[in-house]
Amino acid sequence: MNLAGKHLLCTQDWSLAELEAVLELAEDMKRERWSDKYARVLNRKTFFMFFYNPSVRTRQSFECAATELGGHAQFLEPKSMRLKTKKSAGETIEDAAQVMSRYACGIGIRILEDQVSAYGEGQELCEQYARYAQVPVISMAHDKFHPCQGLADIQGLWQHLGRDQLKGKRLLQVWGHGSLARSWCSVQESMLICSRFGMDVTMAHPEGYDLDPAVIEQVKKNCADNGQEFTVSHDPVSCYDDADVVYARNWMHPTAYGADGKLNKAAEIERALQYPEWICTEDKMRRTRDALFTHPMPVDRGHEVEDAVASGLRSIIYDVAENRLHVQKAIMAMTMRLEE
Ligand code: CP
Repeated sequence: MNLAGKHLLCTQDWSLAELEAVLELAEDMKRERWSDKYARVLNRKTFFMFFYNPSVRTRQSFECAATELGGHAQFLEPKSMRLKTKKSAGETIEDAAQVMSRYACGIGIRILEDQVSAYGEGQELCEQYARYAQVPVISMAHDKFHPCQGLADIQGLWQHLGRDQLKGKRLLQVWGHGSLARSWCSVQESMLICSRFGMDVTMAHPEGYDLDPAVIEQVKKNCADNGQEFTVSHDPVSCYDDADVVYARNWMHPTAYGADGKLNKAAEIERALQYPEWICTEDKMRRTRDALFTHPMPVDRGHEVEDAVASGLRSIIYDVAENRLHVQKAIMAMTMRLEE
C-alpha cells in the first residue's frame, strides 16, 4: 500500500485498510526491532518535531523511532522560530512549512488547548501546515485528535484481545475526576478508532462534560456502520457493566475557555475535583467482563484510577505506551520513505 506523502491529523481521515496496513507493519517492526530489517528506512533523513506543549512519551518515542529507522528527529519549539501569531509579527505558516519541507522528510506538530484561544484552532494550525508542506504532517496530539495514540491503543488491544477479536467488544470511555485539566484529543481519537474497528462504545461522564458534537456524531456513525452500539451513561458505577476495555481519563468541561479565550486550568481542576465518585476502582472493574484497563498516560493516580487498577494484572498502559514507538515507526516508514 502506498501512503507516501500522506498527512495524518486524525485516524478517521484514513481508510480502515490504511490503518490496518500501518498496524501490521508496526507489528513486524516490533518483532524485528533489533534486526537490520528497518534500520535504514530513514537513512540520513530528519523528522522535525514541533512542540507547542511538553511531552514525555511523544517526544521520546518519535526520537527513538527516528534513530531506529536510521534517521534523526529534531526538537523544535515556537519560541525559537519567530513565527507570526495573532499578537506578533513574524514568519507565516506558509513560509515556515515550505522551508521546513526543504530540510526534513516529515513534520510532527503538538499543539494543545492551552496554546490556542478556542477549541479547533490547533486543528486549523495543523491543517495549514499540511496545506503548505511538501512532506507529511503528522499530529503529535492537537486539541481535537491524537492519531498516533489511537493507533497505539488498537495495537495494544490486538496484543491482549487478539488481532480479529475487537468486533463486538465493548469500550467504556469513562471520565475521571482529576487534578489535571485534560485535552479531548486522546478520548475523541480512541472512540473514533475503536468504533472503526467494530467495538461497541459506551461514553460515561457527569452531566455537562460533553465532547465535540461533530466527533460524537461520527463515532455514532462508525458504530452504526459496523452494526454496533453507541451509548451514553451518567452513572459512574453501572457504566462499567459488561465492558471489555475500560479507558478512564479526565477531560475538560466544554466551557473551560473563558470569555477572554484563555483556558483557566485552575478553575477547570477545581470543577473536576467535585466528582470524586468518578474514579476507576477495583470494585467497579468487577462489574466488567474482566476488562483490560488502558490509558494514554500520564495517569492521574488516585483521581482517574486507583493504583490497584493502573498497576493491576489487567492494565496494559505500559504496552500501549511502548506501542507509540512501533506505530510511529510504521507511520514514518510508510509516509516518509519516498524511495526504496
Ligand atoms: N500519551 C501522550 O501523548 O503522552 P505525552 O503527553 O507524554 O507525550
